[in-house]
Amino acid sequence: MSDKRSRLIIALDLPTREEALDLAHRTADYASHFKVGSRLFTAEGPELVRELKKSGYGVFLDLKFHDIPNTVAEAAAAATSLGVDMFDVHASGGTAMMRAAVTATRKEADRIGIDPPKILAITVLTSMSSTVDEVLALAERAKGAGLDGIVSSAWEARAVRDRLGPDFLIVTPGIRPSWAAKQDQRRVATPLQAFENGADYIVIGRPIRDSSKRPSEAARMILEDMNPVEVRE
Ligand code: C5P
Repeated sequence: MSDKRSRLIIALDLPTREEALDLAHRTADYASHFKVGSRLFTAEGPELVRELKKSGYGVFLDLKFHDIPNTVAEAAAAATSLGVDMFDVHASGGTAMMRAAVTATRKEADRIGIDPPKILAITVLTSMSSTVDEVLALAERAKGAGLDGIVSSAWEARAVRDRLGPDFLIVTPGIRPSWAAKQDQRRVATPLQAFENGADYIVIGRPIRDSSKRPSEAARMILEDMNPVEVRE
């Protein structure tokens, strides 16, 4: 794939709207999507998501829904009407819960006349250890329920890709360029390793946010790490 930028999701793990928008604007040339997680969403709410969308950015709403099917369906419809491009639910919430999310998302997207957002299943958090079998079982359950893809570490990405085929999206957090610290992530991989293992997108937070370099420089170096030949100017 030649456009590496289209495969980098930058996590806006920041406390305020101002800081989040600042990071987004500085790094927008390098990212395909910005990820809004529970901290930022709890602090700043849907208005921040609308602002990101208005700026023309892709948004991955990472709230990891996990509840009874009806509640998750209503949350999925709300995420859809907010206009996000991707959101996630926990695969461990079960098939009925995931199916309810898919149905509600399609219905709401139809109602307002937009393409439905991609729904990803969280398999096992990348801060925890897991087995490939566990991740594969959850990924199969998610595909069976009609989800578009999964979030998994780069370590399991190859097995998921081989088992579930080319059209199932794989989004991998827990990415650490060789120059960055591992922090609490356990199953880490470099950007290049993640793509070699079949990932479609990588999610990167602290290595960009906390970089001692400018965030845009860190993001640029990450693109270079994805493909040292194609990206270098
Ligand atoms: O800072 P770091 O690059 O570790 O950030 C990874 C981001 O991806 C965080 O926002 C974290 O919540 C998120 N994430 C994760 N593991 C998952 C799903 C999401 O680390 N399975």
